[in-house]
Amino acid sequence: MMYPYQITSFEAYQEAYKKSVENPELFWEEVASHFVWKQKWDKVLDWNFSEPSIEWFKGAKLNIIENCLDRWVETQPNATALIWEPNDPKEPHRILSYKELHEEVCKFANVLKKNGAKKGDRICIYMPMIPELTIAVLACARIGAIHSVVFGGFSAQSISDRIHDAQCNIVITADGAYRGNKTIPLKSIIDDALINCPSVDNVIVHSRTGIPVSMIKDRDVWWHEEINSLDKNTASICHAEIMDAEDMLFILYTSGSTGKPKGVVHTCGGYMVWTNYTFVNVFQYQQGQVHFCTADIGWITGHSYIVYGPLSAGATSLMFEGIPTWPDAGRFWEIVEKYKVDIIYTAPTAIRSLMSFGKAPVEGKDLTSLKVLGTVGEPINEEAWHWYDDNIGDNKCPIVDTWWQTETGGILISNLAGVTTAKPSFATLPLPGVQPVLVDEQGKEINGNEVSGNLCIKFPWPGMLRTTYGDHERCRLTYFSTYKNLYFTGDGCMRDKVGDYRITGRVDDVLNVSGHRIGTAEVENAINMHTGVIESAVVGYPHDIKGQGIYAYVICNALHEDETHTKQDISQTVARIIGAIAKPDKIQFVSGLPKTRSGKIMRRILRKIAEGELSNLGDTTTLLDPSVVEEIKNNRL
Ligand code: WT7
Repeated sequence: MMYPYQITSFEAYQEAYKKSVENPELFWEEVASHFVWKQKWDKVLDWNFSEPSIEWFKGAKLNIIENCLDRWVETQPNATALIWEPNDPKEPHRILSYKELHEEVCKFANVLKKNGAKKGDRICIYMPMIPELTIAVLACARIGAIHSVVFGGFSAQSISDRIHDAQCNIVITADGAYRGNKTIPLKSIIDDALINCPSVDNVIVHSRTGIPVSMIKDRDVWWHEEINSLDKNTASICHAEIMDAEDMLFILYTSGSTGKPKGVVHTCGGYMVWTNYTFVNVFQYQQGQVHFCTADIGWITGHSYIVYGPLSAGATSLMFEGIPTWPDAGRFWEIVEKYKVDIIYTAPTAIRSLMSFGKAPVEGKDLTSLKVLGTVGEPINEEAWHWYDDNIGDNKCPIVDTWWQTETGGILISNLAGVTTAKPSFATLPLPGVQPVLVDEQGKEINGNEVSGNLCIKFPWPGMLRTTYGDHERCRLTYFSTYKNLYFTGDGCMRDKVGDYRITGRVDDVLNVSGHRIGTAEVENAINMHTGVIESAVVGYPHDIKGQGIYAYVICNALHEDETHTKQDISQTVARIIGAIAKPDKIQFVSGLPKTRSGKIMRRILRKIAEGELSNLGDTTTLLDPSVVEEIKNNRL
């Protein structure tokens, strides 16, 4: 069998789980023995959650790219590593074998070195979903540089903050990106971002759209020119840097309940083992199958289940540049038919959006190649689950509802396709190595079944975050200080009578809009940048397609003649400061916010009003000015 650690029966799952809890070191050592290491570890695990300090495969040496490419070039050079489907179905697609991808990665790694990149450098990548994005990521890892991919929807300000935080010295971008019928001027956004980023010495620009760009002397170079200038005899030879298992592999920024996004850090050894193990087991990947993860590589889902998980398993990974609804809402299903996709992994928000177009876009498409369906990013409602099951899986494909986070590196709670039982709206059971606990507000563990609480994890798993870049204390405070000796996820969770887990959503001030994490404080800060705004409060509310929508209560300093205009200005400000994904869906002007006498905004009340639950607002007598509640209720949008 291809993956000796693939679990293929419920009994085997139970056995693996038991082993992983009783003797984690032995368990993970066995799994890790199936990877390529330059040197084996001295100790499998060393940890404490109080600092926190988490070290897996201590003392081991490796390069993750030798595991993702070189080993497959030896055994299956002509197997397809990457299938790329362009935004526009009329444009030709591209296919790269393991041998070809390896060659491209080595060439670009040499370009990076030529531009001054060294082991340990931080490199920002801001690119469209094209093969060169995957190549850039892998090339960084090959030379031991730490990549920080920034999603193409983020604003110049957001990029600038991230570059500054990580002190990146190189940026890799493209002239522009295609997204449906729009072209996004990536390079020009980068130029704006770099006005105040003195750490950046070089910008490498891939030509994707051909739109005009300004190339800055002594800073900007073209990707293709750099490749062409390499010595033909040695261009595709690039030594893979020998890394410590605990050296940083990448930084990925994610939002929290306070302040600016934090740079979640993942390291080489543990992340590799975890993404591979979860990929092979959750999706029950079989050699030769086509895996289509619809996420963008700018998010953790793309990092783990387009790039590292599949490639480290020698799989065929399909990346799609476009959006599900352009040129029409049949785009995903056309891709499934075209490449005989075996596994599709997408977000509930995409399913709900496609559902709204009815069955027509699915009809006539041959989806019989599909074997496994997956979802991630937010709780999936039963209606969407059944639509997916009936119309896409023809009731023949197991659906895996995979719960995890940027911080967890890979899937923590999910059924294993066809191996353990699926249950609509339940992520079901923890993977081997994952020890979930539910705790009450005081941090007391809630035992037994049919209980709810805050979801924590009490033992380390190889793929967990190690720190937040440049600020270890923030990592401790955010994840390891709420409850002693536990990793706190920020999610609420229910365990049903047979022990299956159902994630109920965030319990902190973090929103999940279309599967994207957005901090309410971050949106408020952006709104408050607008000159007309005195104060604001942002909450989430149920949204049919996005899961959660953004509802902003805003106090302005003057009476607005044209409210619609002011609202547009505020939205535009948010788009400029964060990105279009954070634009409020609703803006209500208010004369005051419900505050306690100590000045704390009562978000619970605002949330209830946004949700339309007007009758039971709870106790409002402790408010400084209870009358504002009436006004807000009466003018509710
Ligand atoms: C948050 C993490 C995991 C990659 C994409 C999002 C929510 C994620 C599920 C699920 C219910 C889910 C949680 C989590 N979430 N998957 N299957 N069921 N909720 O990564 O941006 O780090 O967000 O997404 O609330 O904490 P992220």
